[in-house]
Amino acid sequence: METLFLNKQDTFIEKALKPAKELMLLAKGDGVEIMFQNIQPEEIFVVSPGESEKLLEFFYIIEGSITCQKKENECILQQGDYFYVHNLKENVFFKTNNYVKMLYVSSQPIFHLLSSEIAKLTNIATAIESKDLYTYNHNKNLHEYAMKVAHKMNLSKESLEKLLYAALFHDLGKINTPDEILNKPGLLTIKEFEYIKRHPIDGKNLVEKTYLKNIGKIIEQHHERLDGSGYPWGLKSDEIVLEAKIIAVVDSFDAMISERPYHKAMTVEAAMDELKQLSDKLYDRKIVNILEEVLIEESKL
Ligand SMILES: [Fe+2]
Ligand SMILES: [Fe+2]
Repeated sequence: METLFLNKQDTFIEKALKPAKELMLLAKGDGVEIMFQNIQPEEIFVVSPGESEKLLEFFYIIEGSITCQKKENECILQQGDYFYVHNLKENVFFKTNNYVKMLYVSSQPIFHLLSSEIAKLTNIATAIESKDLYTYNHNKNLHEYAMKVAHKMNLSKESLEKLLYAALFHDLGKINTPDEILNKPGLLTIKEFEYIKRHPIDGKNLVEKTYLKNIGKIIEQHHERLDGSGYPWGLKSDEIVLEAKIIAVVDSFDAMISERPYHKAMTVEAAMDELKQLSDKLYDRKIVNILEEVLIEESKL
């Protein structure tokens, strides 16, 4: 049967990867997928080796510019430039220098990998934001601070990528926490706190079924504290991964400066003082100091 599809802008089969990277599946057939990608400035994305040696991925830059990095080599690609990867052996990293629109063609279906899994996680994260009234914008704020701190710490691109997703999905496990507990004013009973303590493990379990399994550990450890007083495992400083330590600092900071059912919002100064006081005991001092630098640079302190 002959088919001719004429589509206007903004029509697509499916859309995924929000909010910083939007991927739209425009057409597919015979395994080939044609996608359109919208990426915000300063975003890092990775093109990884595919499961199949035959996979060819082609990218054409319609608008904007990106910096491409493979090992020590760096180059800038702009509007009208294109690149493709085939039989890739290792990750290639890209960073958008401004808003980027790209056409993305893949010789084998990969959209489902990028899409349905991540879309499911994003849906859970959104569901939690509406369930837990006080955490509106929490993931977004966290993502922003975590990225700023990580950039200053010169983390590897892999760590940055992991941190990016971990920041967005760190509290996924709260989907299983009863609303009354999440929104309870005042102190929690021991039994109620047991529910809260489960969310890092539940969150890890949710991502471990997806291709983001490498962020499981960060999610699992984001409430661990250096002196072993955290949960769920009471891990101590060296046992906690660096990315989880970063999330711990920015997560606590955002919680302190936000209005929560169990406390009033603190000022940025007061929150920073508290974090400093608890440095070495609960929080990594270096990370706390870097967060302070970020806040000073942004004139928030
Ligand atoms: Fe949490
Ligand atoms: Fe959180």
